[in-house]
Amino acid sequence: MAIDIGTIPARRAKKFPLYRTASGFVRDPLRQLEQMSEIADGRLVRLDLGASRPFLATHPDDVQQVLRRESGNFVRDGLFWRTMRELMGDSILAEGAEWEHSKKVLQPVFTTRNVNRLSGLMAEAINHAVDGLEEPASIGATIDVLPEMSWIVNESVIKVLFGDKISNDQANVLVPAFDQVATKITYRFLLPFVPRAVPLPGDRAYREAVETMDRMLFDLVDRYRDDPGEGNDIFTALCHARMADDSDLDDRWVRDNLLAMFATSTETTTLALTWLWPLLHDHPHVAERLQEEIRSVVGTERVHTGHLDDLHYVKQVVQELLRLYPVGWMFPRMATKDTSLRGVPIKAGSPVLISPYLTHRLKSVWEDPTRFDPDRFLPERTRDHHRYAYFPFGGGPHQCIGRHVFNVEAQLILTSILSRFRPRLLEAVPAEPRIGATLRPRSPIQMTLTRVRRTA
Ligand code: HEM
Repeated sequence: MAIDIGTIPARRAKKFPLYRTASGFVRDPLRQLEQMSEIADGRLVRLDLGASRPFLATHPDDVQQVLRRESGNFVRDGLFWRTMRELMGDSILAEGAEWEHSKKVLQPVFTTRNVNRLSGLMAEAINHAVDGLEEPASIGATIDVLPEMSWIVNESVIKVLFGDKISNDQANVLVPAFDQVATKITYRFLLPFVPRAVPLPGDRAYREAVETMDRMLFDLVDRYRDDPGEGNDIFTALCHARMADDSDLDDRWVRDNLLAMFATSTETTTLALTWLWPLLHDHPHVAERLQEEIRSVVGTERVHTGHLDDLHYVKQVVQELLRLYPVGWMFPRMATKDTSLRGVPIKAGSPVLISPYLTHRLKSVWEDPTRFDPDRFLPERTRDHHRYAYFPFGGGPHQCIGRHVFNVEAQLILTSILSRFRPRLLEAVPAEPRIGATLRPRSPIQMTLTRVRRTA
């Protein structure tokens, strides 16, 4: 059960001087943040990162104020967005008029009606991709979970969300280049105040990967801009758009949004699904309940969207997965004018960090927060949750537009795999992720699959 943590004003932020935290930040930044968040227990934290002193807001009331009630004041700007802005320009991941225009163009792809329309295609693409696991299963070969999940997700996203305009050969260039970008961006994301003139690990590989991606993306824009055909997908929507000032389509804007959508739709889903398997390994009773539900609902069929309404436990498992591993673990904001958060003054220009990972692990918000327990999401147990006790998809005007896509996609992938195979992890995996722009496992997760004997 979620706990009522009260709304008593904190008045002063909890401070942690750098000399006490520096070695922890160097050793394990996520663990260091988690410890500080545990000690502050919902109070606003003033971090001391040397060159920058952002606030960290974990209390659901503060989160609600920043993301929703005062969203016009707390914007995506400042040092912490610099790296994103350099990479994705004025796309849907920006702020202000540019964000609004991109959102207006892309939103129709993500309406419930359109997602339902695309879901059938997604189920087909997923089942087809999961067919690829038959061979390693038949010879008992070990599979590396992250690249396997990435392949299944990319197959469905590229075929369905990008209207099948990216060929297999192009995807084979784009996907690894994007993977390089996502991993090599880590230092720049965590240390945004370090000047560009000072080299950081990964800089060169990052730049090369961006160049490779750009060659491919601009080629694609050039090929489809004037003749995108008809379709309900991201690529077609972008090519049919005009610019905010009604001028002709700008190639750079299409490229920025293609990249933003590729980043948000693939990396997040892949990583969330990667964390699933160690959790099931550590909680065999959850795995058994899942398998039983899937057996009784799906039987010997190939999973389709018609099954999803009856897969209640599958849905709860996915919700709980994102409570423990909300892969968009941190999203910064900057105050544009003086304000306060539960009595603590916040000056214009101050960065405020919001982290579902930390809020979801507060003892005063969730009972026994590190325990994996999908029954927390039984409908009768979620009724009295604070609206911002659980926010893996953010909230307010920037709330994730892909959340329905993710839910459908993750439930289909999980069900498709478990309806056909029994997974076995080679060894237990440490539950602590390694942070960058998203939450990645520290070491490769490997498993074998055994074919399930299915009876009607
Ligand atoms: C595990 C899956 C996912 C998680 C945890 C996640 C998380 C988030 C979060 C936290 C935000 C808010 C960022 C902010 O407030 O600054 C966000 C925004 C966004 N997400 Fe997701 N996301 C997921 C999957 C997806 C998918 C599958 C798509 C697309 C198909 C997508 C597209 C977007 C877009 C376009 C935005 C920006 C929305 C805006 O600013 O208007 N996400 N996501």
